[in-house]
Amino acid sequence: MAIKVGLLLFLVCTTLIPIGRGLAETVIDVTKFGAKPNGKGDSTMAMMRAWNKACHSPGPAKLLIPRGKFKTGETVFQGPCTASKRMTVEIQGTLIADNDLSAYTSFYWIMFEHVDNVVVTGGGTINGRGEAVWKFDAGEKIQNAPLLPVSLVFQSVRNSALHHLNFVNSKGFHLKVTDSSGINVSNIRITAPGNSPNTDGLHISETTNIKVTNSVIQTGDDCVSIGDGNSNVIVSGINCGPGHGISIGSIGKRSDEKSVKGVRVSNCTLTGTTNGARIKTYRASPKLQVSNIIFENLILKNVKRPIIIDQDYNSKNKIQPSNVKIRDVHFKNIRGTISSSKNAVMLTCSESNPCEGIEFANINIRPSSSARGLLPTSCVNVKPIFKGKVSLASCRR
Ligand SMILES: *[C@@H]1O[C@H](CO)[C@@H](O)[C@H](O)[C@H]1NC(C)=O
Ligand SMILES: *[C@@H]1O[C@H](CO)[C@@H](O)[C@H](O)[C@H]1NC(C)=O
Repeated sequence: MAIKVGLLLFLVCTTLIPIGRGLAETVIDVTKFGAKPNGKGDSTMAMMRAWNKACHSPGPAKLLIPRGKFKTGETVFQGPCTASKRMTVEIQGTLIADNDLSAYTSFYWIMFEHVDNVVVTGGGTINGRGEAVWKFDAGEKIQNAPLLPVSLVFQSVRNSALHHLNFVNSKGFHLKVTDSSGINVSNIRITAPGNSPNTDGLHISETTNIKVTNSVIQTGDDCVSIGDGNSNVIVSGINCGPGHGISIGSIGKRSDEKSVKGVRVSNCTLTGTTNGARIKTYRASPKLQVSNIIFENLILKNVKRPIIIDQDYNSKNKIQPSNVKIRDVHFKNIRGTISSSKNAVMLTCSESNPCEGIEFANINIRPSSSARGLLPTSCVNVKPIFKGKVSLASCRR
């Protein structure tokens, strides 16, 4: 009888209360595992031990990083965790990166790897302390030079979210999502100086179904860069600047890259950025496609080069063309001011693979808000389609 009542209760509970909300969440506080909230010592191992406990607890679990300053070096939050449960990582305090570059073996500081259903949030700050090491950034000058570590990486992560967090002065990129799917990034704030090298806000590669919304990104490189192998990417409600704008690319540098399909960038404001909406591909690239791209409802404030397709990006070899086919790209409802009308809108498509289906609709870009007339526009290997009012001149015919 007792068993029957128990079973009945179990059935009632599981049907009425959704699993997840019904199960009590285990809270694992990193300070109980030896993490030091006073900014001294090294909390890396404590963080990882606490994560492992949370990851392998039977029910839903929360890894709590409470208020305080925690210094860490290369930290991996490794999955898979106990099957089909929710994990929350609540960062209330500040994570401070170790500045000894030899503490990083794999070009990242904090990595979530092979996890599903994780939410990283908490309103805290992830401070990469890049200002001490940016002078070591080799950029494109030295081939295969080691990269400075990315502050936070999602690698092979599914159905997960990252929201309400602050990123400050990463050494390399601030945030990277790769080989992942079903990711929501929202309400984040990224801050680094406009002249900091290669400090991209968010870089996305090899990822399907990702939404990046309602965030502020001020940095020294692309606010959002959408690299190879992505599909179904939504970027919306981003305030970008300073920075290099919102870019697709660079595509085609490595021989193993994959195509990009389905990117919608909408409702963003770009302020004082060097570029606005940009697609960049290398020459001598593998055969790839960049297709079904929409840049819409963008407001520009004093942007240097608002619309760019550059298939000659950073290439030393000027003989071989880019083999990336760019097709079905829509620039719609883009308005605002630019800082110089020189080279403002440049479409430089591939000699071997001319761009196809490039559309401009309702574009109102001016050197200043009171200026009239049409902007000179350079079009190479492309015949764009114009719809509605378009304030661009020379490649109309
Ligand atoms: C991402 O957002 C969509 C709604 O826009 C929601 O349906 C989905 O559950 C979210 N995923 C996560 C992991 O938060
Ligand atoms: C952009 O804003 C428009 C108008 O407010 C809204 O209808 C649309 O859903 C927004 N797009 C996205 C992707 O959020």
